[in-house]
Amino acid sequence: MSLKSLMTTYQQRIEAALESWLPAPEIQPSRLHQAMRYAVQGGGKRVRPLLVYLTGNTLNLNPANLDAPACAVEFIHAFSLVHDDLPAMDDDDLRRGKPTCHKAFDEATAILAGDALQSLAFYALSHDPNLQTTDKQRLKMIETLAQASGSRGMAGGQVIDMDSAGQSLNIVELENMHIHKTGALIRASVKLGALAYPSIDDNLLKKLDHYAKCIGLAFQIQDDILDIESDTKTLGKLQGSDIANDKVTYPALLGLRGAKKMANELVEDAIKSLSDFDQKAEPLRWMANYIVTRNY
Ligand code: IPE
Ligand code: IPE
Ligand code: MG
Ligand code: MG
Ligand code: MG
Repeated sequence: MSLKSLMTTYQQRIEAALESWLPAPEIQPSRLHQAMRYAVQGGGKRVRPLLVYLTGNTLNLNPANLDAPACAVEFIHAFSLVHDDLPAMDDDDLRRGKPTCHKAFDEATAILAGDALQSLAFYALSHDPNLQTTDKQRLKMIETLAQASGSRGMAGGQVIDMDSAGQSLNIVELENMHIHKTGALIRASVKLGALAYPSIDDNLLKKLDHYAKCIGLAFQIQDDILDIESDTKTLGKLQGSDIANDKVTYPALLGLRGAKKMANELVEDAIKSLSDFDQKAEPLRWMANYIVTRNY
């Protein structure tokens, strides 16, 4: 299958899988369910679920084993965006080309939709009958997602982000913030894809993990660059939000050229880490390049 048709296949697959887990809008509490659906559907590049599928594809896994972890990471991601946009955080009104969840609904509903999406992520991982894996491995997946999204992962990174507004961070502190707030979930996406494999070799897991660590950091550097270089229409979110909120970013610290150089070096390092994998890993290599060449 060509790379393009593989991506299209997985893109369609993730949309259908997300739909299958989301509660129907008419089911009570219907306003909450509508807000959850609003936050997940109709936009989003689906980078994290694609990483789950592409990692599994590299290991010749049946995609039915990857639907639940792919949905779980996207539910966590959608929840993080809903909360990230709240007035108490980045106070943004536009997301994926639409009003943010708290604007389309209200703040309380947005907070609760985020909470419920987080629970749905763990429900999908723990409940999915199609996940052909041992209970031990399923638990490992749950643990991986919990760690990546919790206080020592994404939530912890968001705390550093909020505390650092208007402050100055050095490069080590900035890297630490990005690795946590964004890198952790991207890293977990690759790990979940690998954990769906019944007996993943430790050495291969380490190589995939290094790949994921590099692209996770590169992803947030590119997000920071796009906040400066892109425009609101292309981004689907307000361009210049970081500057307006006095956020510490890679371009602010290293300049645009320095930030781009660093992102490119990380992608090179990520691709190097896949050298033991054959042609099957080509989509993961493509994904690494896409992360720093995307324009939204
Ligand atoms: C935006 O993530 C938030 C960050 C972690 C940088 P994405 O750029 O993946 O957002 P969507 O899902 O495509 O809207
Ligand atoms: C968001 O980082 C990270 C998480 C949501 C965990 P940003 O605040 O830079 O994301 P955008 O730019 O609003 O999408
Ligand atoms: Mg933010
Ligand atoms: Mg934000
Ligand atoms: Mg941003």
